[in-house]
Amino acid sequence: AGTKQPGGPVRPLVVSTWEHGLAANEAAWEVITQGGRALDAVEKGVKVPEGDPAVKTVGYGGLPDASGQVTLDACIMDETGNCGSVAYLKGIRHPVSVARMVMERTPHVMLVGQGALDFALENGFEEEDLLTPEARMEWDQWRKANKEGEGSGHDTIGMLAIDIKGNLAGACTTSGLAYKKPGRVGDSPIIGAGLYLDNDVGGAVATGNGELVMKTLGTFLVVELMRKGMTPDEACREAVLRIIDKCDPSVGEQVGFLALSVSGMTGACSIRPGFTWARCNGKENRLCDAVYIAGNKSDAK
Ligand code: GLY
Repeated sequence: AGTKQPGGPVRPLVVSTWEHGLAANEAAWEVITQGGRALDAVEKGVKVPEGDPAVKTVGYGGLPDASGQVTLDACIMDETGNCGSVAYLKGIRHPVSVARMVMERTPHVMLVGQGALDFALENGFEEEDLLTPEARMEWDQWRKANKEGEGSGHDTIGMLAIDIKGNLAGACTTSGLAYKKPGRVGDSPIIGAGLYLDNDVGGAVATGNGELVMKTLGTFLVVELMRKGMTPDEACREAVLRIIDKCDPSVGEQVGFLALSVSGMTGACSIRPGFTWARCNGKENRLCDAVYIAGNKSDAK
């Protein structure tokens, strides 16, 4: 479990979702502390869980869809509002880097499926089998139990950073809902859903049930609420309340938002208890517990 949320504004700063954010923050901080760009920091940071087979919800080692295929979604956004995204990408360990290339080397924002894979291979990425023996075993057990429906693993990594110049960037990457219906894409590669930022205001990332985030365009909402004067904490809470009000999530459905203002204030809120996030300011890199609402319309009133 994490510690209580910290208070005042700090810059530079790196924040990211869940416990796997701690190692990701460390890698990102190396870039920040050398005077590097927030964009380079968030890419380097989220590549850590992407490459770690022990993280079953992101990149290599992520749990597959119902048919046993690992399909990845990711996006990245810089301080100028440029962004890139890939969805339903198979066989590439670091989808965030492909998303960055979409941003930097094409006039487009998003490439999906075979087109995204062809683009990655044309640009020097190597194709590999992302289904580890451990993930295959879990998938086999899920199939043998003949379970209906999808799993609950959706601990996406979303990361936001402010560099020494005061510029923001963000990244979001996931293998999506475990045992999802083949072809399903969640919120993580959708700009405004899994990630959004505006260098004049701040940024936000989302984790949890992507469908709920997509229905409310959650991170765009958080940033727009901060633009209107809310603190990151208030804006994240309001976005969670919007989901509860409009979508009435069922028991077990979770969404967490994490936000960072351009002044270096942080905030996070989730539907239910359990959402943690990691905050690194160079002096410490620690896990924090998000505040939560509790779960349904009547709780939220
Ligand atoms: N938030 C990740 C997903 O739903 O795919």
